[in-house]
Amino acid sequence: MEITVSVNGTGYSRVVEPRLLLIHFLRDELGLTGSHWGCDTSNCGACVVWLDETPVKSCTVLAAMADGHRVLTVEGLERDGELDPIQQAFAECHGLQCGFCTPGMMLTSRWLLDHCPDPSPAQIREALSGQICRCTGYENIVRSVRWAAEHEAAARRDDDDDSQDVPE
Ligand code: FES
Ligand code: FES
Repeated sequence: MEITVSVNGTGYSRVVEPRLLLIHFLRDELGLTGSHWGCDTSNCGACVVWLDETPVKSCTVLAAMADGHRVLTVEGLERDGELDPIQQAFAECHGLQCGFCTPGMMLTSRWLLDHCPDPSPAQIREALSGQICRCTGYENIVRSVRWAAEHEAAARRDDDDDSQDVPE
């Protein structure tokens, strides 16, 4: 069957088998290998991408189900050559070691911050509870999300201050 999917703002049309999983469509058809395939049991969350505005485990979604929809992968977090604050945060706070879980962690964290800009550590842990990290013990991942939240709050304050400046 032929499907057309917008991935990170670019439209792709491909003929695929109806049984093809979205994770394999992204990695094998489009060469977007930032999303990782870590298990056969829908447990690890390394494959998380956004389908429209919702994080999904792309190993549990058929590529056909993405037909006519928008997908955001880790490759699409960067904007105009600038890393998303959540990407900066994982680098600043050592939120990764091997990095295998990191794309999914960042996409879920981005969604969390878009819906809950000042999450508590408990809220962060709950949001990420569907994802497994074998390396970090989660502490630095939680710190990374808090770092991004604080930097985004500071940027919003700066924007507010600038908009209140009265030109002479
Ligand atoms: S690859 Fe493990 S949950 Fe999708
Ligand atoms: S950094 Fe290795 S699995 Fe999370």
